[in-house]
Amino acid sequence: MKQSENTKIETQFIQGGKNPKNQDGYVNPPVQRGSTILFERAEDLYNDDLRSYGLEGSVTHDNLTDLLSQTMGGAGCVLTPSGLNAITLVLLATLKSGDHILVSDSIYGPNRRFCDLVLKGFGVETTYYPPRISDKIEEFIKPNTKLIFLESPGSLTLEIQDVPAIVKVAQKHNIITAIDDTWSAGVFMQPLKIGVDISIQALTKYQGGHSDVLLGSVVCKDITLHNKMVAMHKNLGLGVSPEEVWLCLRGIRSMMLRIKHQDMAARKMAQYMQTRPEITQVIHPALEDSEDYAIWSRDFTGAGGLFSVYLKPELSDKVNTMLNSYQIFSMGFSWGGFESLVIDCTPQLRRNFPNKEQKGALVRYAIGLENIDDLIADLERGFEALKV
Ligand SMILES: Cc1ncc(COP(=O)(O)O)c(C=O)c1O
Repeated sequence: MKQSENTKIETQFIQGGKNPKNQDGYVNPPVQRGSTILFERAEDLYNDDLRSYGLEGSVTHDNLTDLLSQTMGGAGCVLTPSGLNAITLVLLATLKSGDHILVSDSIYGPNRRFCDLVLKGFGVETTYYPPRISDKIEEFIKPNTKLIFLESPGSLTLEIQDVPAIVKVAQKHNIITAIDDTWSAGVFMQPLKIGVDISIQALTKYQGGHSDVLLGSVVCKDITLHNKMVAMHKNLGLGVSPEEVWLCLRGIRSMMLRIKHQDMAARKMAQYMQTRPEITQVIHPALEDSEDYAIWSRDFTGAGGLFSVYLKPELSDKVNTMLNSYQIFSMGFSWGGFESLVIDCTPQLRRNFPNKEQKGALVRYAIGLENIDDLIADLERGFEALKV
């Protein structure tokens, strides 16, 4: 579909990623299942310009990869069976034995696990850096540093990183930068437009939006890096089901409406949490008194539905009582779907640079699409349970 340079992102998510001429005029693509692709001419069997096998995707996949490349300003997109797989694909495609990688200490846990177990076994050294390090990251760079991995904000402790400052240092040293940008869904921050080389999404979250899809994406700023991703994707034999892609396409069309509502609701809930005596700290970068507000408001246009709180240390042994008393917030490890979720993050926190203050249990809330008053009443129910 034709779009001008000024087409706003909300419109891009509606108009982009469509190819009606290839699909009998229908707005949406078919779920094109298949392993075998048939050729009419023997000369085409080894023609690299043609898709030759099911692992390379289908017209269904093309709609989503086109849409994601376009909305993120990338040269190309590959889809992976999960968000975690998008992360590991980037690590495997950019690193080799003897290399060094810098990873934010606030990184999504399974990413840390992959670095500590798999990359280490392959002879790649990982150094974790404090997420708010800014341009001082230069002090961590070694002659063999090949990749700087960012996640802004970290999905549990929500520290915002100074992405432009880190990118500037990386470019000076010719180091690739990759970011897990799932928190902003690739819309509230545009990493490739502020110089990051690779943008990773767990499409499982906001894009799928209905808690029924596992999917990831890797969008690269330039074609050389994109081709590296395509090659590693092929070498690993990664295939993505067209059903998952189709469900994601269905979800993504309404994503902007959902995420803006979740953003508004989460801010209200975070403000409510600030009034509660049971809470020592609310971590939400869009709150004006947040440590990260200045950088967040410079680099982001919104915040989505995720925030965390520290429960008072003296109440922290009752965190399970609070969680068990909720009637609307369900307990589950994901986020970005239609339903509100909560977890105690404390048992999964792994840090090389831990916060020195004893702050109590860290509880993360993912706000869904329920009525806001009902959600606040549920939070009150949890605080009442703490009194018993
Ligand atoms: C920040 C972040 N990145 C990546 C992932 C991985 O996504 P998936 O569950 O699709 O593997 C998650 C999942 O919780 C996440 O929170």
